[in-house]
Amino acid sequence: MQFFLDTGDIDEITKASQWGLIDGVTTNPSLIAKTGRSQKDVITDICKIIDGPISAEVISTDKEGMIKEGAVLAEMHPNVVIKLPLTEAGISACKWFSTNDIKTNVTLCFSANQALLAAKNGATYISPFIGRLDDIGQDGMQLIHEIRAVYDNYGYPTEILAASIRHTMHVHQSALAGADVATMPYSVIKAMFNHPLTTSGLEKFLADHQKANK
Ligand code: E4P
Repeated sequence: MQFFLDTGDIDEITKASQWGLIDGVTTNPSLIAKTGRSQKDVITDICKIIDGPISAEVISTDKEGMIKEGAVLAEMHPNVVIKLPLTEAGISACKWFSTNDIKTNVTLCFSANQALLAAKNGATYISPFIGRLDDIGQDGMQLIHEIRAVYDNYGYPTEILAASIRHTMHVHQSALAGADVATMPYSVIKAMFNHPLTTSGLEKFLADHQKANK
């Protein structure tokens, strides 16, 4: 499973990169806004730290605008992936980008049918939002299972990028469901290291070592 960091925070990306676990980064307009910096500056900095797919989202809502904006973003760095909303315009623009060998991440996916549209137009990644479905009382993880089954039925190469991950159970369940990628906040990946038995076990090993080497 690939791990992407879901943030525009350069400090977090720098810290997480030390683990050697981060395969890519996803951003969105809200995450960029939190940084108080321009999308261009943030994406440029991320590309210097992580050598992997970096999703940068368009804010145009029409196909031509998305293509124009995405083409400029794609010129920034070969690792930039154009993030498009799952709308009629976004799916149409996706076809243009895939035809022109530019990678895409189709975002704001909330149904298997939507995921099918993205795959048919050659999306590189589909981003089902697990947490936001859970928030409204629907089972976000069920969507990952459904998309996995649909894509496997037809052999679509579009990668399932489990998004809107809120806690470590979402990562665990996404891995079991066969998601190709999990994009997660820094706090979630950091929490994956923790287990109380690891902590207490190490304390005991170190204490025993001290006793034996007095
Ligand atoms: C992914 O690409 C999205 O940017 C992100 O996972 C959305 O997460 P949220 O629902 O916590 O805002």
